[in-house]
Amino acid sequence: MEKKLITLTVNGIDYELYLNPKTLLVEAIRDHIGLTGTKRGCETVSCGACTVMIDDMAVKSCSVLAVQAEGHRITTAEGLEKNGELAPIQKAFLDEGSYQCGFCTSGMLMSAEAFLKETKNPSEEQIKEAIEGNICRCTGYNSIVRAIAAVAKGKYAEVKS
Ligand code: FES
Ligand code: FES
Repeated sequence: MEKKLITLTVNGIDYELYLNPKTLLVEAIRDHIGLTGTKRGCETVSCGACTVMIDDMAVKSCSVLAVQAEGHRITTAEGLEKNGELAPIQKAFLDEGSYQCGFCTSGMLMSAEAFLKETKNPSEEQIKEAIEGNICRCTGYNSIVRAIAAVAKGKYAEVKS
């Protein structure tokens, strides 16, 4: 299939890429742009390891074509920190030990970030629902829920950009 020139805006940078129109967003991010924080797991929209934000919404990047993301703001785990400082959700994951092997972590961070942008004062139930599309085989989830709750409670000040 003939390649097409598309522009993807990832973490505030425009990338011009020649891609097969069937290229998945996760492939474009990892293999063409080189941001390997976003993980490729199941590729069947089940595990959540590939989750990124498109505009402010958490999206599994194996579920959309790269061309469908053109014209939108894509944020990956690499784009969370500001001015060299980790984002509140990253600091909370560190403090709470919300990771072990780390394979789910980028996707989990992006789901948490999108959730916290739209939900103030969430209940524990709401936090659990927000990450139910992200599978973690290591942590048992409690430390992840604690980290998200800590950010929601304002324990970590926002970094001003
Ligand atoms: S790789 Fe996308 S959901 Fe598993
Ligand atoms: S830390 Fe290993 S899968 Fe979540």
